[in-house]
Amino acid sequence: MSERRDLIVVSNRGPVTYDRVDGERVERRGGGGLATALRGLQSHHDVTWIAAATTEEDRVVAAAGGDGGVVFVAPEPEAYHRYYNVVANPMLWFVQHELWSRGARPDIGLDFHRAWDEGYVAVNRAFAEAVVVELDNRPGATVFFHDYHLYLAPLFVREARPDALLAHFVHIPWPVDWTILPERMRHAVHDGLLANDVVAFHTERWARNFRRSCEDVCGGTGRTVVRHHAISVDVGEFERLATSDSVLAEEAALPRPEKLIVRVDRTDPSKNVVRGFRAFEALLDAHPEWRGRVTMLALLDPSRQAIPEYADYRAEIERAVGEVNGRFGPVIDLRVADNFPQSVAAYKRYDVLLVNPVFDGMNLVAKEGPLVNERDGVLVLSENAGAHEELGVFSLTVNPFDVWGQAEALHSALEMDADERRRRAEGLRAQVRGHDVARWIAGLLDDVDRVAA
Ligand code: F6P
Repeated sequence: MSERRDLIVVSNRGPVTYDRVDGERVERRGGGGLATALRGLQSHHDVTWIAAATTEEDRVVAAAGGDGGVVFVAPEPEAYHRYYNVVANPMLWFVQHELWSRGARPDIGLDFHRAWDEGYVAVNRAFAEAVVVELDNRPGATVFFHDYHLYLAPLFVREARPDALLAHFVHIPWPVDWTILPERMRHAVHDGLLANDVVAFHTERWARNFRRSCEDVCGGTGRTVVRHHAISVDVGEFERLATSDSVLAEEAALPRPEKLIVRVDRTDPSKNVVRGFRAFEALLDAHPEWRGRVTMLALLDPSRQAIPEYADYRAEIERAVGEVNGRFGPVIDLRVADNFPQSVAAYKRYDVLLVNPVFDGMNLVAKEGPLVNERDGVLVLSENAGAHEELGVFSLTVNPFDVWGQAEALHSALEMDADERRRRAEGLRAQVRGHDVARWIAGLLDDVDRVAA
């Protein structure tokens, strides 16, 4: 690990969040892959983390000036709602995962323009102000922005502190085409990001797309260095977790069909859950020999349910399961809950892991599963998941829109002989073990060093 540094990490979700239970303040780990991956930074460097207050108790902590290395930004609830529920998700998320069908949606009215100005811009300004205060406390610290919630903040910081060292990691896909977003917003996104010294993505493909969209929108990337580093898992911690009591208890309670297909996702339209069920249905239609022998276990974390597109998608998922199970009996075991130990237990037991996102920045399920799987399970992987750049050669690649292609891949995976399964499973494990999260972090810090030099 490189030398200790002064870092200011800035992300919408922080490493911890607070609640009040029976009059006492209780601390919870912040959710999501990003916070988990970055938590490792805190033990090796001097980190101040700036994040949004997401609970009432976070706001109390914010008013008291922060706690334990976390500074909370606490915008007005209405501004936060517009920033998170109207602009960042779904609009930016939908643009970047190419989820709009464009015929009728999105429908960008005055409400959206207001949400941009009074929500997204305002909250980005509040984050930037917190960064400037922190930079004044710790001159020389490197600022590390994360993700699509904060595209505008770097330019606001740059205007106030021209010499600051700024880096931004974008964890989601970058499309070439940004024409859905009105021009002033499209420009603001690109100008904001290009105020950083370094902008980085998980894959070569997203970095290349960024260079192209910068070319279209602002004539190039200017002095900003554009890089890519694949995020990964903390291998040691994950392997320990796989043998923990909570995971073993969940494992004992899992179904044991002859063959188990698993998927683990958030209920997000980008995850392509419904087409996955349709592919399973097509498999059972075309190959009656599998009926009664194979179960699909779908463990889905309910996500962003205050956003209509997400609530509708969850309903669509439940409808599709009802239809498939209505035809073949209880062949899909759908569990909508936030239960990480159960997901890890399922990773250990799958024969086939289905990861078929429409688009995905990386997709850590594709790395976590093969790391702890005990059955030489086969990974069926979308060509549009960032993880495909590293893991594609050991997987069965699918096009996420090709339902029949996915049905055929599931059939090939279920039929694959033991030697071939072992060869692929070992390849996946070796790739993840050799490229864990410490390597990702070292890559980011290295970029910053080079720019500083
Ligand atoms: O990078 C995408 C991401 O921010 C991940 O960190 C995380 O897994 C997911 O989206 C969570 O989204 P939200 O914070 O909206 O629940």
